[in-house]
Order: sequence, then C-alpha cells, then structure tokens
Amino acid sequence: MLKRIELNNVGPAPGLAIDFGERLNLLTGDNGLGKSFLLDVGWWAMTRRWPAEVNPGIATGMPVLPAGPGEASITFSFAGASTVENHTSRYRPEEQSWVGRRGRPANPGLVLYAMSDGAFAVWDPARNYWRQPRGWQVFARDEAASERPAAYVFSPLEVWNGREEQGTWLCNGLIRDWAGWQKENGTAYRRLVQFLAALTPPASGPPLAPGPLTRISIDDQRDMPTIRMPYLADVPVVHASSAVRRVIALAYFLVWAWEEHRRAARLLQSEETNQIVLFIDEIEAHLHPSWQRTIVRTLMSAMSSLSEEQAAVQLIATTHSPLIMAAAEPVFDPATDAWFDLDLTDATVQLCRRDFERHGNAEAWFTSEAFDRATRRAGRAPA
Ligand SMILES: Nc1ncnc2c1ncn2[C@@H]1O[C@H](COP(=O)(O)OP(=O)(O)OP(=O)(O)O)[C@@H](O)[C@H]1O
Ligand SMILES: [Mg+2]
Repeated sequence: MLKRIELNNVGPAPGLAIDFGERLNLLTGDNGLGKSFLLDVGWWAMTRRWPAEVNPGIATGMPVLPAGPGEASITFSFAGASTVENHTSRYRPEEQSWVGRRGRPANPGLVLYAMSDGAFAVWDPARNYWRQPRGWQVFARDEAASERPAAYVFSPLEVWNGREEQGTWLCNGLIRDWAGWQKENGTAYRRLVQFLAALTPPASGPPLAPGPLTRISIDDQRDMPTIRMPYLADVPVVHASSAVRRVIALAYFLVWAWEEHRRAARLLQSEETNQIVLFIDEIEAHLHPSWQRTIVRTLMSAMSSLSEEQAAVQLIATTHSPLIMAAAEPVFDPATDAWFDLDLTDATVQLCRRDFERHGNAEAWFTSEAFDRATRRAGRAPA
C-alpha cells in the first residue's frame, strides 16, 4: 500500500506531502494542478518505472522532471508484501535520471495504473520482480532472453490488439484473450462475466454481458467478442460506445493482470500477492451519471473479489466529478479512506487533505468548496 509521497522542487507545487489512506483515496482539483502527475509519481514510487519509459508508444505517464534548477527529490514510503520501503530519490542532471540507493526494493504487490486516455500499466511481483541467482548462471539462448520485462505498459490500441516485443507476445490483447477465454469457459471467462455484470449500474437495464463471438471482416481472422446491449443487439466490442469500451477494457485489464499473476506465481511455485493497488485517472471518464453513481463502489468490490485470499486493495483515483464524490459518501470510511484536494492559492498550488464532508447529493458537492464554486462566487478565488 502506498503510504506517503513527499516532493521537493518537482511538479506544479513547490513542495508537497501526501499521506494516503490504506483503502480508498480520492483526488480532486482544477485542471492542470497535478492530479495525473501525482498518479504517475505514485506508480513510479512503487515500481521505479515511468510508464512512457517502459512503452514510448504512449502519450501519458512521461518521466517526471524537476520544476526548476537546484535539488529535486521524491521521498516515498509504501508497505510492501512483507516490509515497509522508505526511500528518497534525487534527480541527477548528469544522468538525466532519478537515482537512489542500491539494492532490491521491497515488493509492492500487484500495482495497476489505468491512465486517462485508455493506456494501462501493470507491475506484477511474479513477472517483473526476481532475484538474480548468486553463484550460478542461467543458461539461456541469449542473455537478454533471460531478462524479464521491467513492467507491462500498453497503449490504448495495444490493450485491444495486444503487444508484441522481440518476437514474443507480452499481452494478447482484449480481443484475442476474451475470445480465447470465452471458448475455454474457465476461471478467466467467469471472472470477466462477473466483472462486467458487477460494473453495470442497476438503473441502466440488464447487466453488460458477452454475446456470441463473431467475425467483422473477411480480412480479420480473429473471433470478435460481442457485448449484449440492452436493445438486444450483440455489438462487436470494437463498435461499442466510449463508456462501454472504457468499462470492458477496465474489466479485461483487471482480469488479465490477476489471471496472469496467478499463472506466473504457479509456474514459479511462489505465493500469490496479498495486495493490489490500482491507480485510476479520471475514474468517471466517459461514464453517464448513472454509471458514475456506482463505479467507485463496484470497482472496489470487484477488485476485492479477485483474490480468494482477500488481498488488501488500495484504490487511488482522481476525479472531476461531483457525482463521484456524492456516490462515495456511503462507502467512505475516514479510518481507511482519504480525500485530497488540489487548490490554487495566491498563484501557488497547494494540496490539502480534507475531512470528508457529506453533502448528500451531487448538486451540493458541485457548489461546495471542493469544486471551488463557493470560493469563486465569493470572489476569493485567485485569478
Ligand atoms: N512529466 C512531468 N514532469 C514535470 N512536471 C510535470 C510532468 N507532468 C506534469 N507536470 C506538471 O504537472 C502539472 C499538472 O499536470 P497534470 O496532468 O497532473 O494536471 P491534472 O490535475 O491531471 O489536470 P487535468 O484535470 O487537466 O487532467 C503540469 O502543468 C506540469 O506543471
Ligand atoms: Mg489529469
């Protein structure tokens, strides 16, 4: 679980410290104040990888640079699977990189990042974390082949079509995996069906469910999954609406990451992880209000259901939506959850952890200080 991030001379605020809740974390603030930036830093703190460094084909998750000349540091702390990692990393202009102490960092568990544009990143303790054997050599056809990937980062298109790297498929992609899972009718498919149903808001008719596989072109050999729409048509997933695509990609990504983690742990004869962290940027992206009303709750319970061992789950989400905040009211527990708000005061970005007020509805959230309406109306907001 990510516990703390402290920044000095990095990002839009001159300095910033954030102590995360162990379960649900909501991050609000105007455009451009550093919400996505904080998720990038959070993913990096736990994995030591910037998403766009792992996959230069994505437009989000760029390596972070210091805000100005002089010392710049990122201090972070997370509770790993067995130990707590406390670390300070400094930027070295000579290296154009962040550096820190040598040695094997703590294992942070399964770390997932759903970016706002549909790119996804996974850091899997079974597949991206290993000990170099001491005193003996691994015989592999070539040295590079014995290295495992540093992390898995997929562009929006690769989430659907898969990613091939140096002759091996890092991920088959949603289309092929979904079709394969459906034919196999095993755990992965059951989980996907469960997730799709769980993530559908009850008010919008029958739950999202897979229809039969189909073909959409004589030139595309792939069996194409379909999604059964409430108007009783089976729509090929590539033709689904933006919201449906966002939700099915999220469901696929969670199932893929967990299934591949389990499979790898079995092959390595190691234990499944006991913690899962999901960073999700703009959790409401593309969703109609009725969907926004349920997504936080359903996503948290879907994540908890992944592991039979009841792995601890931490969700760190940014939002622009008063509805998301209103919908979080029944699930928000101040003992485990936190709400952070980024504000601009006297031309300086400040982060504050706010007590979670209960406003009762989205309208009241919209006109509250959280969305800066009250301060703006009173003429107190900075220009
Ligand atoms: N890679 C980076 N290196 C250094 N600073 C960055 C980097 N990425 C973002 N920033 C800083 O963070 C600021 C805020 O960007 P960010 O994308 O986090 O805003 P946001 O709050 O997510 O806004 P929006 O609501 O529009 O998505 C940028 O203006 C820039 O100052
Ligand atoms: Mg953003």
